Formats: sequence, C-alpha cells, structure tokens
Amino acid sequence: MLFNRVRFWGILLLLFVYLVGILVLSVISLHDNKHGRYRNGVEVTHQHLSKSKNFDFGIPGFRSPSRRSKINWCADLRYIDPPGETIALASFPGSGNTWLRYLLQQATGLFTGSVYKDYGLLKNGFPAESVLNGSVLVVKTHEWGPKSRNKFSKAILLVRAPAASIQAEFNRQSGGHIGFASPDRYKRMRGRYWQQFVTDKLNGWQQMNLDWLYNFTGPTHVIFYEQLVDNVEHTLRTVMAFVGVRVDEGLVQCAMERKEGIYRRKKRAVNFDPYTEKMKERIKEVQEKVYGAIYNLAAPATS
Ligand SMILES: *[C@@H]1O[C@H](CO)[C@@H](O)[C@H](O)[C@H]1NC(C)=O
Ligand SMILES: *[C@@H]1O[C@H](CO)[C@@H](O)[C@H](O)[C@H]1NC(C)=O
Repeated sequence: MLFNRVRFWGILLLLFVYLVGILVLSVISLHDNKHGRYRNGVEVTHQHLSKSKNFDFGIPGFRSPSRRSKINWCADLRYIDPPGETIALASFPGSGNTWLRYLLQQATGLFTGSVYKDYGLLKNGFPAESVLNGSVLVVKTHEWGPKSRNKFSKAILLVRAPAASIQAEFNRQSGGHIGFASPDRYKRMRGRYWQQFVTDKLNGWQQMNLDWLYNFTGPTHVIFYEQLVDNVEHTLRTVMAFVGVRVDEGLVQCAMERKEGIYRRKKRAVNFDPYTEKMKERIKEVQEKVYGAIYNLAAPATS
C-alpha cells in the first residue's frame, strides 16, 4: 500500500518535472522560430532567427541574446507622443530592414515598431516589436496585399537587388546560428532545393515590391539598400525628411559615428556563385521589370 503510494507520487513528480522541462525548452526554441507564411502559393519567410540576423548586421552585443543589449544608443529611446502617422518600413526579407531601423533609432532617439514580434530583437534594442501605430517612427513589414497595406498611411519601400536579398535569406534559413549557408546546402536534392528557393523568393520579391508600388495609395518613398550602403547619411536624411521627424544634427552625427559598428557585416570570401546562367537571366528580367516600375513611378515626383 505504502509502496504503491510512494510510486504514485514518484511518477507524478517525474511527470511534473518532465512537463516543466518541455515548457522551458519550448520557450527557448521560440527564439529560433522560423515563421513561414504562404501567400498565393509563395512562401514568404519571415526570418526571425535573431542570432543570424544579428550576425548579419553585426550589431554589437547582439550575438549573446541571453544578455541584455549592449547597444549604446545616442539618446535614450522613447515613443512618439502624441502619436503621428503610421508609416510602413516595407521590404522583402534580407533587404536591410533591421539595419535601417537601427540607424533610424540612433539618429532620432525614437523607437521603431514591427508587425512581427521577434523576441531576439525585442530584447536587444528593439523593445517596440509588435507595436503597429503612430507611437513609433516606422513599422517593419515584409507583408503585402490589401490587409497588410491598409494599416499604413505612408510607406518607405526598401528595395535590395533580388540576387543579394535571396542569398541573404538563404543564408539566414540554412546557416542557422552561424548565419551562412555552407556550399553543400546549395547542392541539396541535387540543387533542386536551391532552385525552388530562388524561384519562390524571386516571385515573392516581385510581388511584394510591385504590390506596394502600384497598389499602396499613400505617399511612398522608395530607397535602395545599395544606395543606403553607399551613402548612409544622405539616404537616412531623405528617410527622416519623408517621415517628417525633426532633425537633431548631434544625433545624426552620433548615428553616423556608430553606423560602422553596426554595419560590420561579416564579409565572406564567397568562392562560388550559386546562381546558374538561367537563374541570372530570370533574376535580371524580374529586377528590370521592378526597377523600371520604380523609375516610372518615381520620376514625375522627383523631377
Ligand atoms: C500603440 O500600440 C501599443 C502596443 O499595441 C499600445 O500599447 C499603445 O497604447 C498604442 N499607442 C497608441 C497611441 O495607440
Ligand atoms: C494590386 O492589388 C490587386 C488586388 O488586390 C491584385 O490582384 C494585384 O495583383 C496587385 N498588384 C500588384 C502589382 O501586386
């Protein structure tokens, strides 16, 4: 009798420990969650692999997500009060969205939000993750379609050349914590996996950019990632002017001093080109189509 009771409580205790263990593990694995969404049969992957993303942007202190952020902000970050317009920072994944958010937070002292809740970012300098209103400067989104667009009155569309953004996205998905895909990842399933990935992402890249360009009715400011890299300060100032935030020269200067720490993307000697001639042809075609649309739409406004 006594023995049975001891065994009963013993088993119950084990079960309890087991359940707590599972709970802890699932909370931890939330950090590494990949969110894949499907739209029109195209998978849009919202990579929230914070570690690899951090690696990508080289944000100091980011690579140890268990510790508190070590980002030295130029000013104590705050929300916009009273709130202003809700402005999208729309981009296809792998286009430098987080880096631009970082630069904006440095240069304005204001939080940027997101339609996602990336726990890695949340704990490391972006506490306004999942804030989607005018109390933040801009709101990150990789989404497209009417339901995603109509939450915003203005939009910044950040565009990066598709070959680079697709590869960045592949690195993030396959490279895990290290942040890069090993060469044999490209050879998976005799290369068919990579091929399908390129086809799907290129499709998404085109749809996302064209939908925002043609279907978003509010004021839209298009910037290129490559232009941001080449001339950070000028591009950042155009974004700030578009957003309508007061420019504090001291903060902008401080942000520029800290942009290097942030944009220390680990350069990797890529000793092979993962794109076949056929892929390159298709990428070029799609890129020209989208860039053509950007120039056609933007030209009358800027001249
Ligand atoms: C903005 O959204 C956040 C998070 O949902 C909320 O706490 C805050 O009150 C909102 N602010 C305004 C002005 O609506
Ligand atoms: C614009 O929106 C319509 C309706 O939602 C959609 O069918 C169309 O594909 C969109 N255009 C682009 C370029 O995405």
